[in-house]
Amino acid sequence: MLSPSNQSPPPQAVHTTLLVAAVLVFLHPSIAGATGFEKVIDSPHLTSKIGTNRTILVDLSGKEDFKSVQEAINSVPDGNSDWIIIHVRAGVYREKVYIPESKPYIFLRGNGKGRTAIVWGDTSSDNTESATFRVDADNFLAFGISFKNDARIVSAELSPDNQTVAAVVAGDKAAFYHCAFYSAHNTLFDYKGKHYYDNCYIQGTVDFIFGRGQSMFHSCEIFVVGDKRVKIHGSIVAQNRQSADEDSGFVFLKGKVYGIGGVYLGRTRGSHSRVVFAKTYLSKTIVPEGWTNWSYDGDTEDVLHGEYACKGPGSFPIRRVSWSKQLTEEEAAPYLSIDFINGKEWLPAY
Ligand SMILES: *[C@@H]1O[C@H](CO)[C@@H](O)[C@H](O)[C@H]1NC(C)=O
Ligand SMILES: *[C@@H]1O[C@H](CO)[C@@H](O)[C@H](O)[C@H]1NC(C)=O
Ligand SMILES: *[C@@H]1O[C@H](CO)[C@@H](O)[C@H](O)[C@H]1NC(C)=O
Repeated sequence: MLSPSNQSPPPQAVHTTLLVAAVLVFLHPSIAGATGFEKVIDSPHLTSKIGTNRTILVDLSGKEDFKSVQEAINSVPDGNSDWIIIHVRAGVYREKVYIPESKPYIFLRGNGKGRTAIVWGDTSSDNTESATFRVDADNFLAFGISFKNDARIVSAELSPDNQTVAAVVAGDKAAFYHCAFYSAHNTLFDYKGKHYYDNCYIQGTVDFIFGRGQSMFHSCEIFVVGDKRVKIHGSIVAQNRQSADEDSGFVFLKGKVYGIGGVYLGRTRGSHSRVVFAKTYLSKTIVPEGWTNWSYDGDTEDVLHGEYACKGPGSFPIRRVSWSKQLTEEEAAPYLSIDFINGKEWLPAY
């Protein structure tokens, strides 16, 4: 008869088991997540995923291919169909940048959001006109760049020229990694198409993430400054889904929301507005009502303003407006993965 201690596997088998476990933890994102490690998607990783070394260099010194980002974009042939990297070296590029529909497959790569910035300061009554950066092309990638509209609007309510957009994203399949968006008002016009924002920083006051895109904001940091000039305090999102057939909607997964003053998570815009905050840290800057229908005169029956498993002092559901929703696990499921934007089909990394 063997004693129990003799039944333990030989040392070699233990070794192999540990090794297999270690490899599993390393490979499997959900297991990796459970151990507290989040995969960081850096610039070499993205570059290897798109599989090209074709690079146009932009540098303020004038020693590289171009001194301006727009000139570099202009040099990409119309109808481009292979990924091309436009590497923008550290510096503040004071210019408006436009990527037209005819130039897809551009990877705009900076040296980090604290180091490479594209800055302009237009105000207009038209969102798109005011934008510092605008992309209409499909298949666009950005890494490590700040997009900023630095116009100072003195009194938004007195002037119709009060739009100061940092970026308009109007192409399909656009992804931003480790980027930042700054403006005093209406920062990010997520106009249309499927988009992914990973580890981005977005700052603004009123309705500053808006549009009809079908977008996921993963592990993003939202910094909000309440605006005392307007009747409502300020709100983060104004999503404009117009009908039940539309795929659009904004999902904020993980990440955190904080800021100065009291603000709403969102404001009803379209009859079928769809916004979900899931597993997100909400600081006390979020007012207890959570959401507002200010200046919206339609029905709220078809809007989805949902929250799921959020944490922090701004997440308490007790005083939330009756027409917002605390989602069940089952209701939240469609919004908890990149399948919401069919990401597995087009994202180079997630
Ligand atoms: C890019 O350049 C690196 C270093 O020269 C090389 O190892 C790699 O194979 C190149 N990749 C492609 C897709 O050409
Ligand atoms: C901006 O201008 C529009 C048009 O004049 C006006 O309706 C709106 O109240 C103004 N203020 C803000 C904060 O949007
Ligand atoms: C708008 O919000 C207020 C406050 O929650 C609520 O009383 C009102 O019923 C809402 N309007 C609609 C149409 O849901």
